[in-house]
Amino acid sequence: MDLIQVENALKKCKRCNLWKIRKNVVPGEGRKNAKIMLVGEAPGKEEDATGRPFVGRAGKLLNSILEEAKIKRSQLYITSVLKCHPPQNRKPFSGEIKECLPWLEKQIETIQPKIIGLMGNTAIKSLLGFNGITKMHGKTIEKNGKKFLLLFHPAAGVYNAKLIPKMKKDYAKLIEFV
Ligand code: URA
Repeated sequence: MDLIQVENALKKCKRCNLWKIRKNVVPGEGRKNAKIMLVGEAPGKEEDATGRPFVGRAGKLLNSILEEAKIKRSQLYITSVLKCHPPQNRKPFSGEIKECLPWLEKQIETIQPKIIGLMGNTAIKSLLGFNGITKMHGKTIEKNGKKFLLLFHPAAGVYNAKLIPKMKKDYAKLIEFV
């Protein structure tokens, strides 16, 4: 399966119950051979309405942090662990993550990024199996031949602006993989 086939198959996904209430699947967006991949938690309301990742408030902060790091969104592939919006932005259920994760794994296999930025604990827990953003942000970890950078989720900076300088420092580390 190539990336377009994965994205098209995803749009028909009914593996968990979120398909019943979604407006759009949000498969992800970006270059098919991106060297940098960013992974968030789950689409929010605006992403559900548009079918595009990180277009809401967290996305705007992400854009400005990337701009400062001299990275263009068009150089990346951006997606989330869940591809459908959980109602009221609740945390994804573990069953939803279990059903959805094979899609993310397929995306990683087809894109083969040099670095995978895991934004927030849902992405970290889903791919690495532990919670550790507070102590481990800014660190890189290798697992199964893949390299991961642990990053705060942009929404963390929306709710707590004091985190933004730390976020800028951590996200700037992505530039060496461009
Ligand atoms: N938060 C996420 O984790 N993903 C999105 O696409 C938007 C907000």
